[in-house]
Amino acid sequence: MQALILAGGEGTRLRPLTSTIPKPVIRLAGRPFIVYMLEWLRSHGIEEAILACGFMAEDVRAVLGEGTDLGLRLLYIHEPKPLGTGGALRFAQDLLRERFLMLNGDVLTDIDLDAQLAQHEATGARATLALVEVADPSAYGLVHLDEDLSIEAFVEKPGQATGSARRSRAKAAAGPNLINAGVYVLERDVLEAVPPTGTRSSIERDVFPRLVGKRLFGHRSQGYWLDIGTPERYLQATFDLLDGTVRLAMRARTAQAQEHTLEPAMVEPGATIAQGATVGPYAVLGPAVTVGEGTRIARAVVLEGATVGAGATVTDAIIGPRSRIGSHCRVERDVVLGEGAVLQPGSVVADGARIFPGVVVSDGAIRS
Ligand code: GDD
Ligand code: MG
Repeated sequence: MQALILAGGEGTRLRPLTSTIPKPVIRLAGRPFIVYMLEWLRSHGIEEAILACGFMAEDVRAVLGEGTDLGLRLLYIHEPKPLGTGGALRFAQDLLRERFLMLNGDVLTDIDLDAQLAQHEATGARATLALVEVADPSAYGLVHLDEDLSIEAFVEKPGQATGSARRSRAKAAAGPNLINAGVYVLERDVLEAVPPTGTRSSIERDVFPRLVGKRLFGHRSQGYWLDIGTPERYLQATFDLLDGTVRLAMRARTAQAQEHTLEPAMVEPGATIAQGATVGPYAVLGPAVTVGEGTRIARAVVLEGATVGAGATVTDAIIGPRSRIGSHCRVERDVVLGEGAVLQPGSVVADGARIFPGVVVSDGAIRS
């Protein structure tokens, strides 16, 4: 079977990381994120994946290639302008066979696709959506499921719903918080409900609500599931991989055993840690990262080629590739540094600050 993976969004909520790296190939615990998804698909017998790209398409292709190493055939399509999730499906139509999977390209999951497919077959569905339960559904597609597993209501981003969507929201909100996990089994005839080629559309807003009552089903999936599209969730996904909560094959946890690591932690080959520094718990150092003497890094990810000077503290942060953190800097509480950002010695960056690629924070400055 084939899978159509949506990999063309701009990843705005992950800026400034996504200012220079497309979301699907940002490294997550040692590998480009989407490799986890491709391996999971392969383990369920998927042989061909079509990557629907737009934003920074060439960078996605440069990292993943033809997929030979992964035992999959990768095809790329490139939307000349963003067409939305519905438009991307329409744009891919010539490559799609009778039944296929469609996936959001930003979910880390090990849910059982075989069970979803079996249900799809048994109910004679046109579309079967994987559903997972979350505490707060407002940032997702909220679904109300009938007893026969058909979808009675689909409301995208219920936090923003207006008009008739608001009435559907009341219905959808009546049950458990089941949300759309972004993993669909689709029959080709779903295309009948998708706006014509070249039109921007959303499968969640324009297509699924229209298919309610027309053999649209939901499958309550079991297993790990997380959308990695915000800094908090990217860090959570990293920590869950380090903990082994996700049933996905991972490279050796500590690629290079280091005396300075506090488990769980991952230190990729080529990273170096100086005397008196501690890395972890819950830290990842990418290839060629250097950490100076006495520095402390915890609950953080430092991406390839970044340097952290001596006596610094980095906690609850994502440090972009090749950025440079000077000695005695403090980087803490939900900070994201873009590629090549520079913090001069003694700077403090905290409380959700985002430093864009190449920006220089001068000596001793405080940014939050
Ligand atoms: N090719 C292409 N073209 N892909 C796109 C485009 C586009 O114009 N726009 C978005 N995408 C891709 C994104 O790259 C991402 O992989 C996927 O479509 C979903 O877009 P997000 O922007 O991440 O959506 P979301 O997370 O707010 O909401 C979606 O995912 C939730 C689960 O994580 C919806 O499908 C919700 O219903 C769902 O609950
Ligand atoms: Mg998302």
